[in-house]
Amino acid sequence: MSTSMKDNLLDWLRDAHAMEQQAEHMLKAQAGRLEHYPALRWRIEQHIEETQSQQQLLDRCITRLGGSASTFKDLTGKLMAFGQAVGGMVMSDEVVKGAMAGYAFENVEIATYTVLIAAAAELGDTETQAACEQILAQEKAMAAWLLEHLPEVTQAFMRRSADPELTAKR
Ligand SMILES: [Fe+2]
Repeated sequence: MSTSMKDNLLDWLRDAHAMEQQAEHMLKAQAGRLEHYPALRWRIEQHIEETQSQQQLLDRCITRLGGSASTFKDLTGKLMAFGQAVGGMVMSDEVVKGAMAGYAFENVEIATYTVLIAAAAELGDTETQAACEQILAQEKAMAAWLLEHLPEVTQAFMRRSADPELTAKR
């Protein structure tokens, strides 16, 4: 395994780990605020569990490649600037904006694991490749769920907004 290629893979794995830590933080904030959208809240809570196990999977790949959790970059990395921008939207107390931002963030995750799978394949690191394929499937399922449910979240928000007795935004 070439050292520089391995360094690329390790860097991207660390970025992905930081991204999933940020994802967990955002998803928890979002789920904690949602009151009137039980299906969305349930799906987010399910994805929080997936996100935690993804962090463990990534951690194991990093350790196996000789990296260490103590060298994780903090959340000021390149990708994280985008994550923070989206994170601000996810933490909006308006449910429609939050669901849109969640969908955008899932797609960044999909791109991240697509890159990691290709990198691991290039290095012949089948274990990292398999771990990232497993994670990618979860991110694709979450993105698809959010996209599929955006219309009903939007319409529920609009109906609640039109009713002065109800709280719509979350
Ligand atoms: Fe995700």
